[in-house]
Amino acid sequence: MLTRRPRRNRKSAGVRQMVQETQLTVDDFIFPLFLIEGENKKEEVSSMPGIYRYTLDLLLEEVGECVALGINAYCIFPSLGEDKKDSLATEGSNPEGIYQIALRSIKEKYPDTVVMTDVAMDPYSSDGHDGIVKEGKIVNDETLEVLGKMALAQAAAGADIIGPSDMMDGRIGYIREVLDDNGYTDVSIMSYSAKYASAFYGPFRDALDSAPKFGDKKTYQMDPANVKEALIEAELDYVEGADFLMVKPALSYLDVIKTLADNFDVPITAYNVSGEYAMLKAAAQNGWLENDKTMLEMLLSIKRAGASAILTYFAKEAAVLLNK
Ligand code: PBG
Repeated sequence: MLTRRPRRNRKSAGVRQMVQETQLTVDDFIFPLFLIEGENKKEEVSSMPGIYRYTLDLLLEEVGECVALGINAYCIFPSLGEDKKDSLATEGSNPEGIYQIALRSIKEKYPDTVVMTDVAMDPYSSDGHDGIVKEGKIVNDETLEVLGKMALAQAAAGADIIGPSDMMDGRIGYIREVLDDNGYTDVSIMSYSAKYASAFYGPFRDALDSAPKFGDKKTYQMDPANVKEALIEAELDYVEGADFLMVKPALSYLDVIKTLADNFDVPITAYNVSGEYAMLKAAAQNGWLENDKTMLEMLLSIKRAGASAILTYFAKEAAVLLNK
């Protein structure tokens, strides 16, 4: 006699729905969008089918469409010409630079959206690194000043959440102090806490043309082999004042998401990165995987692991499906 039959709880769609532990909704998504200079241009990222780099006018239209689908949170990344880059990423804190103008315009046109930024030198750096380069090394403490200026310019432009993605030591405390000293106590920080030196960022670097000009990012981004180190990074960011702790990438790091979710009471978020998006799109284009079902399963797994919000390039197409 089989007294316990787990299959009874799977016998119909109705029962399955009742016992579902994790639900994916449009509220879970933060949509990353790529911004370029100019007007009336939209270019598809070759390694990310369906994802475009937009000039501000078209980016605003895209946000409008996504707002109508219920997507409330956005993270903007700028792609700049080489002429705008220098070794100190000066353009990153220009109040009249395209990034700051875009933040202001989005908040003006869609005041109820949550706009998150990226703080790191790479899109503006002639070296393509996330910190200042001196004699072939990425110097930590001098970089903090640059990051502080960048965060301040973004807060002044209306950003709701500052997202430091640079992995310098002490940056959360430094940025928190700069923001507070300037009256931006309400501006949140979502720290890229456990950001790994990952091969999955390739398509993003194509989109931004931001690949490092020499070497790699292993002296600041984490070793994929380590999880204890993620606890150290998260603890520091928490103590230094981060409101959210992010894990990046997501799918190969579900254990890291779970570990942080078990150990911290602030929301844990995850970045379902460009390479994870590209992988599914390539397989789907070949007819090897079914796009929609696989996408929803991937996103659900990230949430099940403990993420309360997901930065994902799938946000728009997932929203269309979830709204049905
Ligand atoms: C830059 C940054 C990167 C990503 C987000 N912010 C790339 C990197 O660190 O080289 C990657 C996002 C993605 O792959 O989707 N600091």
